[in-house]
Amino acid sequence: MRNILVTNALPYANGPIHMGHLLGYIQADIWVRAMRAMGHNVTYVCADDAHGTAIMLRAEANGITPEQQIAQVQKEHQRDFQGFAIEFDHYDSTHSATNSARANEIYLKNREAGHIAVRPVTQLFDPEKSMFLSDRFIKGTCPKCKTEDQYGDACESCGTTYNAIELLNPRSTLSGATPVEKSSDHYFFKLPDFSEYLQKWTRDQGRLPVSIANKLDEWFDAGLTDWDISRDAPYFGFEIPDAPNKYFYVWVDAPIGYMSSFENYIKTKRPDLSFDDYWKKDSQNEVYHFIGKDIVYFHALFWPAMLEGANYRTPTGLFVNGFLTVNGQKMSKSRGTFIKAETYLAHLNPEHLRYYFASKLSDKVEDSDLNLEDFVQKVNSDLVGKVVNIASRCAKFINKDFDNTLSANCAEPELVQSFIDAGESIIHAYESREFSAAIREIMALADKANQYIDEKKPWALAKQAGQEQQVHEVCSVGINLFRQLAVYLAPVLPMLAEQVQLFLQLERFNFASRQNILTNHAIAQFQPLMQRVDKAKVETMVDESKDSLAAVEAPKVVKKKEKAAVKATPVATTSEDSVIGIEDFLKVDLRVAKVVAAATVEGSDKLLQLTLDAGEAEPRNVFSGIRSQYAPEDLTGKLVVLVANLAPRKMRFGVSNGMVLAAGNADGIFIISPDSGAKPGDKVS
Ligand code: MSP
Ligand code: ZN
Repeated sequence: MRNILVTNALPYANGPIHMGHLLGYIQADIWVRAMRAMGHNVTYVCADDAHGTAIMLRAEANGITPEQQIAQVQKEHQRDFQGFAIEFDHYDSTHSATNSARANEIYLKNREAGHIAVRPVTQLFDPEKSMFLSDRFIKGTCPKCKTEDQYGDACESCGTTYNAIELLNPRSTLSGATPVEKSSDHYFFKLPDFSEYLQKWTRDQGRLPVSIANKLDEWFDAGLTDWDISRDAPYFGFEIPDAPNKYFYVWVDAPIGYMSSFENYIKTKRPDLSFDDYWKKDSQNEVYHFIGKDIVYFHALFWPAMLEGANYRTPTGLFVNGFLTVNGQKMSKSRGTFIKAETYLAHLNPEHLRYYFASKLSDKVEDSDLNLEDFVQKVNSDLVGKVVNIASRCAKFINKDFDNTLSANCAEPELVQSFIDAGESIIHAYESREFSAAIREIMALADKANQYIDEKKPWALAKQAGQEQQVHEVCSVGINLFRQLAVYLAPVLPMLAEQVQLFLQLERFNFASRQNILTNHAIAQFQPLMQRVDKAKVETMVDESKDSLAAVEAPKVVKKKEKAAVKATPVATTSEDSVIGIEDFLKVDLRVAKVVAAATVEGSDKLLQLTLDAGEAEPRNVFSGIRSQYAPEDLTGKLVVLVANLAPRKMRFGVSNGMVLAAGNADGIFIISPDSGAKPGDKVS
């Protein structure tokens, strides 16, 4: 028996749980249930991630205190998780005394070990609000294309990335005031101290998906940099010891929430468990974090480094889920596919979503699509048409004609045994998080069971005289096969499993319990187990999602989504005053260039540094904001279109000499590439 602690990423306390979140929570819950069904000792905890500027401002906008804000949202989160049968042993908040104490301890141990540095940082400051502004709270005119109303990190119109300081006519989105530059001391965690340790750690067997470890190598190659872990007041968080008015950045105490939630679980419910057994350095117990792919950086670098620096154990492994799209696209408010957990629960069966996600999930970091038509089709055909159907076809005879008791002998011991034996591979698939493989195997068994019943036709036998025993035996075999399926599906469909357990009057329903064949066994009256998905309800849910979100989305998200919606509709983008003559267009010198080298840029998660051959004497250096979409190795050798006569632009990282053309939409950025045959230096017109 293994002792395992499982956590899910802690959802932010400033918004509702939606379909995208649920992918990772349902994945973890299924794994926890499956591991328990195997007999392992699993503790499963989570918490709300309660700190940060966004939460502070949300509370302010709602006219309540941050404490009231996070208490309210936590209630909603717990309600939603419960609705989807995501059953944490304990659900806490990062805004707890226990978490504050742990955060201090981990920080102080790192400080004692010399891993903390202090130095001044200059940032834009809102003189009216008296607070420093992060990029998202600054807007102004794009220094390049002059589009108004752009955020402090990048222009949504032309895609240029810049420093907030470079914006023309900058203003604070919080007060409208013109921000000023101001310096203050910041506290840094010296991540480079752990460079060697982390390079080894991320390559340890089973620690990370290989694709992620490869991605991390790029970061190592680019070199790790100190991590700014302090924020100036006002900030909703924990004050840093010996640093008045400085607060831990939310990502410092967020993962420590994994520890403190577990600690509070012990304190309040399980005094028999020991914190040290799970967290001390040489612990043999296992710790796994289920996280989305967007937060790998924090979990694979900062978190193990902080733990190592404070002499704690590090997680045994990170299980990383890809992103969820709905109907093939990013969830969208305008399409009604930004579906909140609450809205889903008002119309549909939570286990249907659990099943659908399970049928999609593997141990790979792949994005998954919730295609609503496919969802209806799959749930109805698999769960209702195949699985539940077996029980309803057989139970009525046992209930009606055989005194609710299965036959005294099993007529098909080999068939039933083959279902029992198939469990080995299904259980293994669960253990290695190959849920889609498990589901495929279970559905193949369901097909076999239906085939058996179709061949034997108990409903026809029942009409013939003298066939009672046959009917009894066939239906008893059918119920036995159904029982096997229900045991295998139990981690995915725990509510259904509970009903089946009652119906079959079984004391235990874990994987080992499947080994005995049920003979001469009393069952209860059959109750319908599951309804079909009603397409009309899916449509209602989508309709309702169209207008239910305005109040809960952060301003930036609303903005981006609106833009995406506009971009998706082909509309003429030229307005009267933006028409230019051909002579203006000809001023732009567009040239074919070849990417000779491409590299990531230290300190920027948006930029790639390109070395271009544009048919000139010297290669060109260009910074391009395409990192989110392209890996450096994807680009070398590629032909691109270069704006060759653009004035050189000084950036934080060096001078950019020109610009590479790319298209952009809600899904990402796409480089424009001439067909083969074009040569570096060719004029583009
Ligand atoms: N608060 C941080 C996590 C701190 S962990 C110490 C956070 N919160 S979140 O609410 O934004 O996201 C919670 C989880 O949901 C993360 O694992 C995130 O990756 C995941 N997802 C959010 N949107 C998602 C999709 N559209 N698809 C799949 N997972 C998504 O990040
Ligand atoms: Zn611009």
